[in-house]
Amino acid sequence: DPANPNVRKISGTEVRRRLQTGEHIPEWFSAPEVIKLLRIAHPPAHKQGMVLFFTGLSGSGKSTIANALLERLLEVAEERKVTVLDGDHVRHHLSSELGFSREHRDLNIQRIGYVASEIAKHGGMAICAAIAPYEDARGVARRLVEEHGKFIEIFVNTPLSHCEQRDRKGLYAKARAGELKGMTGIDDPYEAPLACEIDLPSHELAVHESVDRIMDYLTEHGFVALPGNPVKGGD
Ligand code: ADX
Repeated sequence: DPANPNVRKISGTEVRRRLQTGEHIPEWFSAPEVIKLLRIAHPPAHKQGMVLFFTGLSGSGKSTIANALLERLLEVAEERKVTVLDGDHVRHHLSSELGFSREHRDLNIQRIGYVASEIAKHGGMAICAAIAPYEDARGVARRLVEEHGKFIEIFVNTPLSHCEQRDRKGLYAKARAGELKGMTGIDDPYEAPLACEIDLPSHELAVHESVDRIMDYLTEHGFVALPGNPVKGGD
């Protein structure tokens, strides 16, 4: 304070910034016990719960990229606890009674969103990879997660023609032959995200390049602290 050189001040904005980066907050600002509680209530970005929510057509590469991302995170960000919720696994363990009607798909995505939000609540990271064809259901998952942490929607933007050409599971051929009804992209809708955090032109990228793009986003926003590039002041 220029009028009174014996008074020192930190603005509210500056305190919030220091909480976000983990930088030092001097003891003259507040009692250490209070600062400790503030830090628990406002963990720095790289300790916040977060959900990476992949969406895209069947065969777009969601699971492949999600698993490669998991491996990269285990290498470079050991402190991050990561759970993968893959559509195929969720449908086996959590949603085994569900089919592919809109109602059932929405219920499936709501369950994934709920489990992911519980993971985020405890500071963990969840990587979700389901088709999630409906904007509304993705919004429901987002709102569940955002009560506790960050939600990052990643559109695995591979055109249908590429997915169909690969057709690893043979489902597109069956759908074209009329043996499978309600296949996403053939006779069932896929609503492309209107506003997602990351739009991956995955058919133009090698898997490791898709992972690079996601890691760039995470480090730029301070969500992972790389060993050689620690978040400033982070502990
Ligand atoms: S979602 O629509 O509810 O998000 P989810 O990702 O769990 O779908 O499951 C999709 C997987 O189920 C596909 O990768 C495919 O292997 C299989 N599947 C079976 N029938 C269909 C269908 N009618 N539409 C899309 N995927 C189907």
